[in-house]
Amino acid sequence: MKIEKSSGLRGNIEVPGDKSISHRAVLIGSIAEGDTRISHFLPGADCLATIDCMRRLGVSIEVKKSQGDGGNGFSSTVIVHGAGKVNHRDGGDGPDDSEKDGGDGPSGLKPPTDILDAKNSGTTMRLLSGILAGQDFASGITGDDSLKRRPMKRIIEPLEKMGAKIVSADGNRAPLTIRGGHLKGIAYQSPVASAQVKSCILFAGLYADGMTCVVEPAMSRNHTELMLSRFGADIAYDLFDPAKLDMKGMDGVPIVPGVVLRPGQPLKGQDIVVPGDISSAAYFLAAGLLVPDSEITLKNVGINPTRDGILRVIAGMGGYVEISNQHEEGNELVADLVVSSSPLRGVEIGGGIIPTLIDEIPMIAVMAAFAEGDTIISDAGELRVKETDRLTAIAEDLRLIGTEVETTDDGMIIHGKGNTFIGGQADADGSTAHMDSLHGAVIDPKGDHRMAMAFTVAGLVTGGMEIKGAECVDVSYPGFFEDIKKLK
Ligand code: S3P
Repeated sequence: MKIEKSSGLRGNIEVPGDKSISHRAVLIGSIAEGDTRISHFLPGADCLATIDCMRRLGVSIEVKKSQGDGGNGFSSTVIVHGAGKVNHRDGGDGPDDSEKDGGDGPSGLKPPTDILDAKNSGTTMRLLSGILAGQDFASGITGDDSLKRRPMKRIIEPLEKMGAKIVSADGNRAPLTIRGGHLKGIAYQSPVASAQVKSCILFAGLYADGMTCVVEPAMSRNHTELMLSRFGADIAYDLFDPAKLDMKGMDGVPIVPGVVLRPGQPLKGQDIVVPGDISSAAYFLAAGLLVPDSEITLKNVGINPTRDGILRVIAGMGGYVEISNQHEEGNELVADLVVSSSPLRGVEIGGGIIPTLIDEIPMIAVMAAFAEGDTIISDAGELRVKETDRLTAIAEDLRLIGTEVETTDDGMIIHGKGNTFIGGQADADGSTAHMDSLHGAVIDPKGDHRMAMAFTVAGLVTGGMEIKGAECVDVSYPGFFEDIKKLK
């Protein structure tokens, strides 16, 4: 895909539904009682992998193309006919569903006849493993080559503590074989701030005897907590004082972000409207800031405070984004965002903000290349275990377009060149020679959707950019290139 230099990007975009929320709506809807209707669902390859896995577990799921919901035509309505019966076998507080048909496991799920395939989706593999650990049958789950390289010890360890038996490939990688059932609740101090780890444990906790608690070093996205609560689970999440809870394994843990789940409540199907994905909006926020003479309105974007780090970083860089029409949709905060071309300055990003913008770092790094001065990113070692080693990939690709950048163990330093088109600062002698030196290049994102989209935006500023294998954007943003064309 060739990307040409652009100016004056103007118009309205409704980005596709949030990927994390779309996955969770299918997973929780599948194990709930009754129907869950999901509007503005993201039909990206990752979420379709989740649907495929749940169908193989016996759940009936309908997918319909949405009409007239303001999206780009790449939005679906999904109806999940829930298999029901979460943790009722021990006579929890819910009704006795022992006579309900459809299903062999404690949740009404059926043993799959073949290995489940999460494809490129870490969220599918890690979250679904939590549900599989709660079943009385064994199942296998695998993924594509990228997913088979990603670490699974982070979920294997807590699931085994809960009583699941897991066999993995060398180095705790996928494929995984999970034999679950008869789990016990645990108190788990996660070494990483990861919503995938936290959600996996919470899903297993739905099937466990006793309470499950997860604390993490910094708060990761809380969509699972919000959605489980909406479906009727007994779940509390906040800054958490372990001293107030009589749980083994929490001695000496300071006040940290945490979640406590008490199993036994029936989950009831819901109507869910998925907000626009802020991680997808990020590309248009950046395009609006970097491409001269632009003004883009992004409608109905999820701005959950555990996901809004990019907005805080843009403000810190001096970018202009107006937030309006703020309201709640389900339990999630949603707003319209209007972005206009702005000169940017370098910024320091590290600590607790990192989990709130982890997927946006490729785009932030590109913005930093067009900002005045240095941007220092730290505490982002998790980027090394995403779809690619994103720290290495970002640095290599930024160098290809003419940026000076150094990587560290857990981040990078980007020496921004400024952006002459939108008010970049001239040197004291009036020269702008230090700018304009970023240029197009041939970029191979190696199948990483976020790298492909971030460097497409860079190409709108430099021109002369070529993105190899650009169709990988379908993982999270089918219709991405159509939406860009709409603004020209
Ligand atoms: C996700 C959590 C994040 C994020 C991923 C989606 C989720 O991963 O990077 O794209 O939906 O829970 P980690 O939990 O590994 O940080």
